[in-house]
Amino acid sequence: MNILSIESSCDESAISILEAKGGVKKTSFKILGNNIASQVKLHAQYGGVFPMMAKREHAKNLIPLLKKTLKEAKILYPVSGIEYLVSKKVKIILNREPELLEQFLEFIPTIQKPNIDAIAVTYGPGLEPALWVGINFAKALAIVWDIPVIPVNHMEGHILSALKKGGNKFSISNFQFPILSLLISGGHTELVLVKKWMNYKIIGETRDDAVGEAFDKVARMLNLPYPGGPQISKLAGSSRSKSGKTPGVKDTPTPEVEEDFDLFPPVKLPRPMINSGDFDFSFSGLKTAVLYLLRELGKLNNNQKIAIAKEFQDAATEVLTSKTMKAAKKFKVRTILVGGGVSANKQIRTTLIKAAKKEKINIHFPEKGLSVDNSIMIGMAGYFRFLSKSKKPNIRTLKACGNLKIGTTTL
Ligand code: KG4
Ligand code: ZN
Repeated sequence: MNILSIESSCDESAISILEAKGGVKKTSFKILGNNIASQVKLHAQYGGVFPMMAKREHAKNLIPLLKKTLKEAKILYPVSGIEYLVSKKVKIILNREPELLEQFLEFIPTIQKPNIDAIAVTYGPGLEPALWVGINFAKALAIVWDIPVIPVNHMEGHILSALKKGGNKFSISNFQFPILSLLISGGHTELVLVKKWMNYKIIGETRDDAVGEAFDKVARMLNLPYPGGPQISKLAGSSRSKSGKTPGVKDTPTPEVEEDFDLFPPVKLPRPMINSGDFDFSFSGLKTAVLYLLRELGKLNNNQKIAIAKEFQDAATEVLTSKTMKAAKKFKVRTILVGGGVSANKQIRTTLIKAAKKEKINIHFPEKGLSVDNSIMIGMAGYFRFLSKSKKPNIRTLKACGNLKIGTTTL
């Protein structure tokens, strides 16, 4: 079957078309089209994501993305002269997104119904105004094309994102359950036990800030731009080479390492809850410890900044690795799947890979571009949801759920 998937939970608008085949034991995917419009640069000017601004951007982006993706999938067929009327129902659904409605009415009646069997859409967790745009767009298309909507939990997508390997064609098979998933993003830090696909249990989660949020806040304290994760990682890495260059990171200039390179000031930050005996996390204390340290140090030189970034990243890495490995051993898992924006962090990756290798556990990370929010993972999760034959949701009552938890449903 062909699935059109839509992601609009935060600051990325994304649309993909996946051809999906097989059952839960062996599932094959082919990406027919995939496009993303990132708002990261826009929000960076304000130091964070503004929900209403994100909503407006999604409303502007979705039709152009759809057009591009249908074209890429070679299923865009303009109709010659025949126009059909878009029902009043659709106009009511898109009433709150006037810009999207206008573009919808201009474009959709001018194309034939494409070869798409279902629409997968993120319905939570995320920013509700942003989620609503994707959901309403999915509903409107589903009515016009008379196909079902498959509501997807965004975090299920992040779990599956680590399983896309190689080019446009890939398969998922032969997993021994339970699997452990570590989800680390700007909004989440959780350890999820995957008993089988679509059967999830949170075994540990952050009690306060998410790890990505802590990266972003510490970056702000160090006067680094948003999003702070990649900036901290780059700054921390600059202590590794005398030239101040971090391999593989090109975009912004790397800060100068001041003369006495070896004389980095000793900085020690806590490893919150590392020995708490459960699988929960806490990152707000770590962030506050950085704040106190900054107050104590006053104006920072570059070496001090680098030392703080490095120690903060070390602390986050150690806590995440320690809890993940303890959970993996306790639940006797053979596979760990890591997902979410923070999974792009090089040090966290290499440390987790080393720890997993020692225990002979397989570990998978998302390929480049799939650790951030994307619609490929939503299409994959949508197909698994379709295969699970869970109750068909009523499209009329489908709602955005900002704080949707993995393993639960509001349908
Ligand atoms: O999953 P994501 O794209 O969005 C959600 O929060 O759902 O994650 C974004 C988060 C931000 O906090 C960002 O700073 C962090 O991921 N991040 C990183 C890195 N790249 C992105 N954190 C640490 N190291 C990175 N290389
Ligand atoms: Zn996400």
